[in-house]
Amino acid sequence: MPSHRLPPSLEPNALSQEVDRFRREGLPFIDLTATNPTRCGFAYPEAEILAALAAPGTLAYHPDPRGSRTAREAVAAWHGQGLDPEDLVLAASTSEAYGWLFKLLCDPGDEVLVPSPSYPLFHWLATLEGVEARPVPALAFGRWQVDFQALEAAAGPRTRAVVVVHPNNPTGQFLTTSEWEGLLAFCAARGLALLVDEVFVDYALEPPADRLGSALGTPAPPCPVFVLSGLSKIAALPQIKLGWVAARGAGARALLEPLTFLADQYLSVSASAQAAAADLLRLAPGIQAGLKARLRRNLAALDAALAGRPALTRAPVEGGWAAVLRIPALEPGEACALRLLREAGVLVHPGHFFDIPGDGHLVVSLLPEPFPEGIERAAALLDARAR
Ligand SMILES: Cc1ncc(COP(=O)(O)O)c(C=O)c1O
Repeated sequence: MPSHRLPPSLEPNALSQEVDRFRREGLPFIDLTATNPTRCGFAYPEAEILAALAAPGTLAYHPDPRGSRTAREAVAAWHGQGLDPEDLVLAASTSEAYGWLFKLLCDPGDEVLVPSPSYPLFHWLATLEGVEARPVPALAFGRWQVDFQALEAAAGPRTRAVVVVHPNNPTGQFLTTSEWEGLLAFCAARGLALLVDEVFVDYALEPPADRLGSALGTPAPPCPVFVLSGLSKIAALPQIKLGWVAARGAGARALLEPLTFLADQYLSVSASAQAAAADLLRLAPGIQAGLKARLRRNLAALDAALAGRPALTRAPVEGGWAAVLRIPALEPGEACALRLLREAGVLVHPGHFFDIPGDGHLVVSLLPEPFPEGIERAAALLDARAR
């Protein structure tokens, strides 16, 4: 019997089953949930990427539990802000780094608070460490705002950390400077750590004026702050498997040693990823430029599809790779997504996949190349049903 940390059933949900059927039967559809950048038709600098991966460092094994000094220097230089390579620990991905941080900060049965809606993987990344990731619904007035009263009410004796995504996935919301100050005060008062996922921080589209730049650029925080990022989004290279955690703030240095111990048990970052890190980070701005052009084009296509269809609107897309649509809640979210797939040949995610309450939201990725056609088809069907 597998442990109780695993899901009781691994049966795919109805939407995944239908997608599998479409694929098995060769039925065409436009996938507006696609977020794998290597399959979205971007022109990568292929020769340079392959040359970076052929660096001589690939042939040698000099394990360092925090990651090679040269790779950490490259990551520190990428972030700037005076980040010290000694405050960085490399991992194979941010997902792996979350597992390490939950092991570092929590005993089994402890919990972390996650202002929601947020990235759905947190539930399993925490559960697999014996930790509860407790969603704390945000206040939804036009934009989602951290609800400090709800955080207060949710915090208990077993709470160890707060996890925020900046900008968030899927809502695209950046933290504002006042939310940031509030989170620091909240965590410092309760002896909690603050985990800030900044994988999308370079992808600003409609940022609010008072947004926090990066958690790495703020004055010394009064609590331990762990900032997560990686090549998967920064350079749109998820297959390289290189992520990292930067530790800062009061008490963070003392936690670096046990975090290093943890990383030492895995030594999971490949020599080739570390040897290539500096060159790949040099390529990142060019790769990002291609993605940003696509994100802007698709956001404009989304607005064109919503224009003249007042029943359909979207939340501000402050940053990131996704957009949240508001639709009339005429049927359960999954039924709506199934209808769009079967009747319009378009795959979208219902909002509840991301803990958005109710049935009035859909989530689409802004990366896919055929986005304009897909969103027009989806909007036409949703609009016809709303009339
Ligand atoms: C908010 C967020 N964090 C982390 C990740 C995962 O990144 P990695 O590939 O480094 O595990 C994703 C992937 O979609 C994400 O959306």
